[in-house]
Amino acid sequence: MTLVDPVTARDEVLRVDGLHVGTQNLRLVSDVSFTLSAGERVGLIGESGSGKSLTAAAIMGLLPEGVHASGSVRLAGVGHDLVGASVRQLAAVHGAAMTMVFQEPMTALNPAMRVGDQVAEVMLLHGARPDRRAARAAGVELLAQVRLPDPGQLARAYPHQLSGGQRQRVMIAIALANGPSVLLADEPTTALDVTVQAQVLELILTGVAERGSALLFITHDLAVVATVCERVMVMYGGRVVEAGPVHEVFTRPQHPYTRGLLDASDLASADGRLRTIPGTVPAAGRFPAGCVFRNRCPSASDECDERPRWMERAGGGYACWHPVGAHA
Ligand SMILES: Nc1ncnc2c1ncn2[C@@H]1O[C@H](COP(=O)(O)OP(=O)(O)OP(=O)(O)O)[C@@H](O)[C@H]1O
Ligand code: SF4
Ligand SMILES: [Mg+2]
Repeated sequence: MTLVDPVTARDEVLRVDGLHVGTQNLRLVSDVSFTLSAGERVGLIGESGSGKSLTAAAIMGLLPEGVHASGSVRLAGVGHDLVGASVRQLAAVHGAAMTMVFQEPMTALNPAMRVGDQVAEVMLLHGARPDRRAARAAGVELLAQVRLPDPGQLARAYPHQLSGGQRQRVMIAIALANGPSVLLADEPTTALDVTVQAQVLELILTGVAERGSALLFITHDLAVVATVCERVMVMYGGRVVEAGPVHEVFTRPQHPYTRGLLDASDLASADGRLRTIPGTVPAAGRFPAGCVFRNRCPSASDECDERPRWMERAGGGYACWHPVGAHA
């Protein structure tokens, strides 16, 4: 797949089409479609439970037991769809063309293996280094690149001997080891001490920039999205309700939910008042049948009992019958 994105003029590296995720009884993510181009940084935001992590897990083919995906996930250079791919096909992609950094690195690292061996292993597995010795040396180099102190010594440590920030740096080294086309980062700094959050974010940004990787960045921090991302997707109730260039979406949001998120964020706290979006997020799979935001939306009308169509605008769009921009 070597399509060129008409908006960015860069090679498209990931195409997600009509992605649905659910259990036997619950629809958890519905009809998510987007593309990522080489080197592009895209934010994925939305309140807790909106479906961000499940979307990323479905793209990676790492859904929990009993949760299934349908639709299509195509990665450049991979000849088959990742939805429905075999364990073997997915293993060939993970750690190479597409990688992921999680909120809690301990869950992704092998507790019984020295961290240097874990970095070397991923290089050996995907052929980036032909032998164990060369892979070990390259692994130590990579640990130095993610600015771990005394990387030669640290390579011999086990994950539990490291701090949370150091473990996340190891995870980032593993994720970047083979120069992925796509890096999915799911709240990679949330669990870390505030003093190291900015450093870890900087490592991710430098790492993807040097490798030309596309970044899908899941976060609750809208200020970070405003600073580091070019595009943003806003999720609610398992659906993308608005998407587009960050500047456009953050300065002229069309969806009442995006408006609410911005009002509740630090970006809009100039008057010092903390706000939240009124109402509570329905339980998984219990969102209204029409517009998913219907029971919390200040602009709702009878029309909203029907699912809103996706309205295209400036490099993105939104799904709302009464966009806020229309009566702003
Ligand atoms: N294995 C599962 N079985 C059933 N429901 C699940 C499962 N995993 C997640 N869910 C539900 O799917 C919804 C979306 O979950 P997801 O973890 O994607 O949210 P999120 O947007 O990442 O939230 P957060 O910001 O808190 O990380 C939630 O309501 C969650 O309870
Ligand atoms: S479609 Fe209706 S309920 Fe949904 S966000 Fe728009 S105005 Fe609100
Ligand atoms: Mg999550």
